[in-house]
Amino acid sequence: MEGGKVLVRLNRYLSLCGVTSRRKADEHILQGRVKVNGITVKELGWRIDPERDVVEVDGREIKKPKYRYIILYKPCCYLTALGKSKDGKKTLQDLLKDIPERVYPAGRLDYNAEGLLLLTNDGELANRIMHPRYKLPKTYLVWVQGRVEGKTIESMKKGAMLEDGFAKPDKVKLIKHEKDKSLIEIVFHEGRKHIVKRFVSHFGHRVIKLKRVAIGPISLGKLRPGQWRDLKEEEVKKLKKLLGMEV
Ligand code: URA
Repeated sequence: MEGGKVLVRLNRYLSLCGVTSRRKADEHILQGRVKVNGITVKELGWRIDPERDVVEVDGREIKKPKYRYIILYKPCCYLTALGKSKDGKKTLQDLLKDIPERVYPAGRLDYNAEGLLLLTNDGELANRIMHPRYKLPKTYLVWVQGRVEGKTIESMKKGAMLEDGFAKPDKVKLIKHEKDKSLIEIVFHEGRKHIVKRFVSHFGHRVIKLKRVAIGPISLGKLRPGQWRDLKEEEVKKLKKLLGMEV
């Protein structure tokens, strides 16, 4: 903050606007390709006021993008992808119509998994949602084959060595047994591929149904499969605050 204004480093601004990475932005600056208010800036670390300063790269004005933050209930049997799939499988594109911004999923769900996906064009937020360093908990409700015993839950709490390293949930809880299957709640703050399925199978149980019900403070709530909505301003603020971002 300077005189009540929030100043942002030029390289960071260019990366926030999706022009390029911060490192590449520094190269652009050193090459004299960046102007602020009509004047070429070659100083790394230069700060700008995004509300007032006009930034250009190669003569093209760079505008702060309008960010969208979307919560989607991905139904089972949709790919977490935005284009068309080669084999005719349905993708998120079939669900997200009328969104002009190029939003991307912050994390993925398997084809046969369902539940909460966050999509945004705010790259910084998306990175922080996905990166284990920021420890954002992702909560899953998982139906598994067989009766999961109390002692198995206790072992799960201690974690397990999987083929790509140790995995330890933040929380595991048995919700109920039903005939020969069990419903458990499991929370991981990391997003390694098939982490829940691989973790549960390490303990001899196969996942029958997997549903992500929350990412950090954001829950599916009343959304039905296939529905989406924009996050409320309050929800975005909460998320950013938790992830150590400026609000
Ligand atoms: N863990 C899984 O195994 N699959 C998912 O889709 C998400 C987490």
